[in-house]
Amino acid sequence: MAEQDPRTRAIRIQAERTPHKEHAVPVYLTSSFVFDDAEEMRAAFADEIERPIYSRFSNPNVEEFVERLCALEGAEAGYATASGMAAVFATFAGLCSSGDEILSCRSVFGATHTLLTKILPRFGIGHAYADLEDLDSWAAKVTKKTKLIYVETPTNPAADVVDLEWLGKFAKERGLILVVDNCFATPSITRPLEFGAHLSLHSATKYIDGQGRVLGGIVVGDEKLIGDIYTFCRSTGPALSPFSAWILSRSLETLDIRMQRHSENALAIARFLETRKDLSEVRYPLLPSHPRYEVAKKQMKWGGGVVAFKVEGGLKRGQGFLDAIRMCSLTANLGDSRSIVSHPASTTHAKMTEEERVAVGITPGLVRVSAGLEAVEDIIADLEQALDRSR
Ligand SMILES: Cc1ncc(COP(=O)(O)O)c(C=O)c1O
Repeated sequence: MAEQDPRTRAIRIQAERTPHKEHAVPVYLTSSFVFDDAEEMRAAFADEIERPIYSRFSNPNVEEFVERLCALEGAEAGYATASGMAAVFATFAGLCSSGDEILSCRSVFGATHTLLTKILPRFGIGHAYADLEDLDSWAAKVTKKTKLIYVETPTNPAADVVDLEWLGKFAKERGLILVVDNCFATPSITRPLEFGAHLSLHSATKYIDGQGRVLGGIVVGDEKLIGDIYTFCRSTGPALSPFSAWILSRSLETLDIRMQRHSENALAIARFLETRKDLSEVRYPLLPSHPRYEVAKKQMKWGGGVVAFKVEGGLKRGQGFLDAIRMCSLTANLGDSRSIVSHPASTTHAKMTEEERVAVGITPGLVRVSAGLEAVEDIIADLEQALDRSR
């Protein structure tokens, strides 16, 4: 039989059946696993046989989730963590040592910014930021200390897009590890490893869960690098719970159809927002007005579920708009079946200075919409009435 499509494998890969021959996988809610004898236990600890030992290292539910995402991303190996930030931190801490530097795109998720600027420097790991609109400037930011390049695409919250084909070549020429936070696109839209990334990581809390139920993170890619991350995690303990892994693994079965619908709804919302005269900018990767529209078309199958826009009137109007919302949720999450609106400058990115925010396009009037799976007419009607009432 020909090799199956990754989307089929993400549904059909399944933890081994128990003697009960259940169809759906049970939740392996156990912290450890038993051995038949001392020799089996010794061999398992010596990595001579592959089998679960202790759920901080691995667990059948977690393994299944990892294998399914590896299939979708085209990756050799992976490790799942208790949250997206645990995956980001484990990747940096597992691969970098004191004296190394991380070259990152300037616009990254707020907690990743805190990690790069405040936490990692305490361990002697430095960083440099480079701008997406000026790719020529990236070469000058690489020093002898640079170990790893880190980017998000599309970025949170301003929906900017990084040219992965260019970046894959750039990283290869300079012998640097390329890590892509693929949380916004998911492998249904972009597969970073195909562009030369070594690792693709996720806040699984977002689209992978898709219904705002559990926290989770995962990093997949090159086997050797994952081995280093695993060694760090095995001894430091950011493991994903079996229950959350069970939820996330089931959710992967519907990821592709959900991402298509999220993207269709987001495109319709973006087109509606462009008709409004009271907005200074609408950002969506697959709008021809997006500064990196050509790049987005090249590397994204659909545009993803996030639209960003700027209301005239700054912070006051931005918050006034949120207060006028009737149906969409005001919450810190995204990638849910329910549409969410948020105001990054006063919430997720509030820890950055005003200057840092403006440098990555987070102006006081920026609003982020995570398009849900509701009928798009209802989402648009809610946004329209809130824009009208907050004018
Ligand atoms: C792009 C991106 N990376 C990482 C994270 C962190 O993930 P978590 O909240 O699961 O720790 C987020 C959370 O919003 C995110 O949007």
